[in-house]
Amino acid sequence: MSDSDPSPGGSTDKSATPSSEADARLRGALPPDMAQRVRSARLKDGRAILVAEAGDLSKGARVELEAAMKLAVTRLDDVSEVHIALTADRQRRQIITVGSGKGGVGKSTLTTNLAVALARMGRKVGVIDGDIYGPSQPKLLGTEGERPVAQDDKLVAIESPHGVKVLSMGHLVAPGKALAWRGPMAGKALGQLVEADWGDTDILLIDLPPGTGDVQLSMMADSKPDGAILVSTPQDLALLDAARAGQLFEQGDVEIIGLVENMAGYECPKCGHISDPFGQGGVERFAQALEIPFLGRIPLTIETRLAGDKGVPPAVEDGKAGKPFHAVAERLARWLDTGAS
Ligand SMILES: Nc1ncnc2c1ncn2[C@@H]1O[C@H](COP(=O)(O)OP(=O)(O)O)[C@@H](O)[C@H]1O
Ligand SMILES: [Mg+2]
Repeated sequence: MSDSDPSPGGSTDKSATPSSEADARLRGALPPDMAQRVRSARLKDGRAILVAEAGDLSKGARVELEAAMKLAVTRLDDVSEVHIALTADRQRRQIITVGSGKGGVGKSTLTTNLAVALARMGRKVGVIDGDIYGPSQPKLLGTEGERPVAQDDKLVAIESPHGVKVLSMGHLVAPGKALAWRGPMAGKALGQLVEADWGDTDILLIDLPPGTGDVQLSMMADSKPDGAILVSTPQDLALLDAARAGQLFEQGDVEIIGLVENMAGYECPKCGHISDPFGQGGVERFAQALEIPFLGRIPLTIETRLAGDKGVPPAVEDGKAGKPFHAVAERLARWLDTGAS
């Protein structure tokens, strides 16, 4: 018996089935949707080895696919052993939206810092500024005044100095020039940012405009996000708005990854006394009541505000202001990898 692979189209080795025939038979044993995924299939000495594309599937779906393929191929008479290798060449980009009911709660700040924190963990991240009417990502990510080039009818995402790609309406219209687009047009503009050339980006974070309007609805219809992070300040009114945003995602069948409390506790830079301008613990209790995971608390700090104005997000460093963002980013990374935060 020879150990070498059968030569294509035929072999003198009786234990090995010619590769093209084996390939066809193994594929033929699978339902069409699974057969489509097979990139190569070999059979030798009763041992079948299939390589299948599964980059677009969640962890759970990959496990199911592997089991189902194994079962189907094992049914062939001359197969005694099956090995399935799932590859992820066509890795599907994961889209996460950051939403809130209200403006000014720190949605954009959170998006920027989560993106930078994920990038520092080795992820390939892009940020879409979905706030068509009040873009802030060019400033937050230090790319103000830059213009994206277009290639093959697509905008090419801008590389920020912080290892994160970014695209915003703010990169396309002159600063201060208000957009007077109505809902459908704004929704279309956002779609174009999502469809842009994002290169090898694995994770797209979309900084949504506040509220539950047309832009949010068309975004969910056109490029269904994998999950949504909700952000709120601790006061009741912001929480109620966050709940409304949450309902919108639920209706659109978008999983809510969790709730983040922003502007929690303010440490006086002079005396160190911590005060709670917007109350404390409200968001965590609220998350519990709604049975949504609570992802963490970001304190109100002067550094965070100044960093936003400077275009250097605190999460680029391991300093005090950056740490809480890193902690939330770790929860997000876990969710992206396992489906649980
Ligand atoms: N944790 C924080 N500490 C200090 N300032 C913050 C914090 N989060 C946000 N800010 C500031 O609050 C303002 C509004 O934040 P922003 O992220 O633009 O909110 P939104 O996108 O929800 O409208 C900005 O000036 C920002 O720098
Ligand atoms: Mg914003």
